[in-house]
Amino acid sequence: MKKVKISSPTSKGCVEVLNLQIRNHKAYLDPKEQKRGFVTLLTPSDYLQYINHDGQVLLARYSEGEFKGMPAGYLISVDMESASSHPFLAQFAMDIYNDGYLHFVIIAQIGVARREVGARSGIGTQLYTYFFEKIIPYTNFDWVITEVSVNNLKSYNFHLKMKFIELERYDDSFGNEMIMLGRKVNVE
Ligand SMILES: CC(C)(COP(=O)(O)OP(=O)(O)OC[C@H]1O[C@@H](n2cnc3c(N)ncnc32)[C@H](O)[C@@H]1OP(=O)(O)O)[C@@H](O)C(=O)NCCC(=O)NCCS
Repeated sequence: MKKVKISSPTSKGCVEVLNLQIRNHKAYLDPKEQKRGFVTLLTPSDYLQYINHDGQVLLARYSEGEFKGMPAGYLISVDMESASSHPFLAQFAMDIYNDGYLHFVIIAQIGVARREVGARSGIGTQLYTYFFEKIIPYTNFDWVITEVSVNNLKSYNFHLKMKFIELERYDDSFGNEMIMLGRKVNVE
């Protein structure tokens, strides 16, 4: 397992989060590379700075080894209010709300540095552990919801391991087959 230190990023750190996202973006990867995992959505650094409060943006940095101090992964979560100013997430949030989930937070994206993708680095687990233990208990959310592409099987398996359950399957507005996953939280 690669050891990391997790915190909310500075403005410069938000640019580093976007940089990590770009390196995992489908458009920059050939089909073989995509099999290891990919992302389809980029969150501009000014939007990240805007939502960067209450632990909504988390940046993991390597805490030892040759990459010590460098960005290793990120987790972006978006509440209903923050989602309303994002063109794509606003619709997703409305769809979730209309499905009857009233107090939810969306995982807009979780990702690790490209060198670690598909390699079971443990960085993704550390990010979710931090999120579920250090952020979620101090909120009123009762669901954490995300979506993955059916073509991103590794991310799907990863989310099942993180105790998410499959909620529904549908085609998104870009014609991609997607799976909505959720984890119930803050239950007594
Ligand atoms: C998906 C992702 C975040 C997982 O992070 P990670 O650090 O690689 O995952 P972890 O090492 O913490 O793995 C935790 C569990 O997830 C599952 N998993 C992770 N990688 C896997 C792989 N390559 N194959 C099968 N299962 C895998 C396993 O159950 C694993 O537990 P185990 O190693 O005890 O069996 C990461 O690979 C990534 O950034 N992928 C590209 C971007 C992406 O797909 N983001 C999600 C968009 S929805």
